[in-house]
Amino acid sequence: MISKLNQTIPFSLTSPEFLRNPYPYYDKLRSIHPVYWVNSLKYPGWYVTGYEEAIAILKDTRFKNRIPLPQTSNKYENLKNLQNDMMLFKNQLDHKRLRMLVSKVFTPRIVEGYRPYINETVNDLLNQVKDKKKMDVVSDYAFPLASLIIAEILGVPAEERFQFREWTASLIQTIDFTRTRKALANGNETTIKLLDYFRELIKKRKHNPQDDLISMLIKEEQHGGKLTDEELLATCILLVIAGHETTVNLISNSMFALLNQPQQLMKLKKNPALIEMAVEEFLRYESPTQMTARIASEDINMNSATIKKDEQVYILLGAANRDPKKFFNANELDITRNPNPHLAFGYGVHFCLGSLLARIEAQIAIHTLLERMPNLQIASSELQWRKLIGFRSLLELPLTFN
Ligand code: HEM
Repeated sequence: MISKLNQTIPFSLTSPEFLRNPYPYYDKLRSIHPVYWVNSLKYPGWYVTGYEEAIAILKDTRFKNRIPLPQTSNKYENLKNLQNDMMLFKNQLDHKRLRMLVSKVFTPRIVEGYRPYINETVNDLLNQVKDKKKMDVVSDYAFPLASLIIAEILGVPAEERFQFREWTASLIQTIDFTRTRKALANGNETTIKLLDYFRELIKKRKHNPQDDLISMLIKEEQHGGKLTDEELLATCILLVIAGHETTVNLISNSMFALLNQPQQLMKLKKNPALIEMAVEEFLRYESPTQMTARIASEDINMNSATIKKDEQVYILLGAANRDPKKFFNANELDITRNPNPHLAFGYGVHFCLGSLLARIEAQIAIHTLLERMPNLQIASSELQWRKLIGFRSLLELPLTFN
């Protein structure tokens, strides 16, 4: 039985070394125990680094989702209320009800229908940088792409989407371990702006429905009354955040990994049909979402650890995806890895609703960039990772090409 008292980990989760390369630290933690109680951090709890253990927790509904802020706090009301209305933080029937509604308007057929628009957008973006012979993958390519696509799907006018970058970054900081009081206050202000924005847009769509996801959700709301006005607002905002943040990171993390491994790059260039398998491997190797959390609703035994009611459990998806018990040569990038049952999109009832969209965007973006821009090189020796623990996110990725 693993003892729980005052266990410390021999490193800091916010040190520059950890942010640059968290994987040796995950390996260290997993070698101590794949479900390890840590008391020494700002957020004490069980840190899960093992693959089988991560799956066991994610599929066990006794481990509940919860909003990151304490329910007892009376601060940051707007932010808290918004998070409480998001399906990501709901459980059981409420979660099922919201998820069913969104799944209905976000089907594989609808998402597949966006392929031509994604292709066109990717090519337009590359046309804009082609003559400069250089680009920042994050701000010139991945971000505008993810932003234009989710705006199109939701029905946000393209010219209004620019403000979403700042808003998304602000809200991501409120759910990460690195959050500060300033970030929470800022997130609360951002929530007010986002709510105002979407209230106005929903009002317009109620009067004048379009062929977009917001209009479809409004129709569901009006016909069945199955979601409240607040839940409709929270769903739009969740999709905006989810649609922006992680997809951008998938595209930039993939290019970073590939350009650092010339053999893998050559393999993909020689055989572009490998792109689907390659994207699965990028998702595993540099998982955009590194961590998710649950809370135990009762005492639960898990691989010789007893997790007590109300204790926090932090599932390190990026660590589970490098568990050598599950993946051969887990710390190596192999774009032909097959099967590749990674947990980058989570597992169980909260499995990512946008996984198909993210996969299609990344496949088209990476394939087209490699095809159109010869001799791609990283144009900086010192890249910076954003100070986030739950997300793996490059601040920028400058490239040159011929
Ligand atoms: C590479 C890109 C993406 C990654 C790595 C990713 C990752 C994840 C993960 C790990 C979860 C589960 C969280 C948990 O169980 O606690 C999740 C849930 C979710 N994702 Fe994604 N996501 C991505 C893109 C997207 C996109 C593009 C959208 C929508 C436009 C989206 C919408 C959602 C939603 C709505 C949920 C909540 C599902 C639920 O609670 O039932 N995601 N995502």
